[in-house]
Amino acid sequence: MAVEVLGTADGRAKTALSHAHAASWRAARAAGKPLAIGRASPPDHPARPAAPALLDPRDVPRRKAGSRQGRVAMLHAVAHIELNAVDLHWDIIARFTETPMPAGFYDDWVKAADEESKHFNLLCDCLEAHGSSYGAMPAHAGMWQAASDTAQDLMGRLAVVPMVLEARGLDVTPNMIALFEKAGDRQTVDALNVIYAEEVSHVAYGSKWFHFLCGRHELDPRVVFHDLVRRYFHGLLKPPFNEEKRAEAGLPPDFYWPLTEEQRAV
Ligand SMILES: [Fe+2]
Ligand SMILES: [Fe+2]
Repeated sequence: MAVEVLGTADGRAKTALSHAHAASWRAARAAGKPLAIGRASPPDHPARPAAPALLDPRDVPRRKAGSRQGRVAMLHAVAHIELNAVDLHWDIIARFTETPMPAGFYDDWVKAADEESKHFNLLCDCLEAHGSSYGAMPAHAGMWQAASDTAQDLMGRLAVVPMVLEARGLDVTPNMIALFEKAGDRQTVDALNVIYAEEVSHVAYGSKWFHFLCGRHELDPRVVFHDLVRRYFHGLLKPPFNEEKRAEAGLPPDFYWPLTEEQRAV
């Protein structure tokens, strides 16, 4: 099921399939007949629609954040992130099946994938209300980099994707909501509030299963987190951090603050 979502190119079709498979998973769990995890070979890169064109971040045109055009461009960029997130969650489900994990691990990522699918569609609706659509402007290439870099390392994947990239979403979303509020764009404010509330749990799933694996291997979570982020994440973490929401998601300050500076040679 995960591989089928990953192999579907069109955004609306991918997310419809994602919702349908999440519903099947949940129904089977509720009936006490959980679906078998099985084995699969997820593609190196998920299928994506022909548009948007994917450009190097340096080549994506910048627009003024204050203008309506700038806000639509921002919506487009976030929709692109959400579509990528749908694939990231189905990818973690399909890619690491040789590592035995409790059923709750799959419950969490199925739920996260289901929610990202909703987020993508909410943002597409906002884009369409502005007379635009997903694919109408170029988007960043390289969003799959974190997945490729951690394709062999489940703990690395958890450290970088939910605990760094999705946590970054918690930092930046309140300002984005304020910007659309100021513009009087109620539909987008409502969509971003749904996203903001649900993203906390995605970071929390990352932290939960990262700590679970540290416990299994008797590792110090903070030390291993720093090692893995320095190995797989290109660059430093950027303050200001949303310390309150990060705490709610099980990310303490001593996990992320040390990663704002280059590691000093001892
Ligand atoms: Fe999302
Ligand atoms: Fe998310």
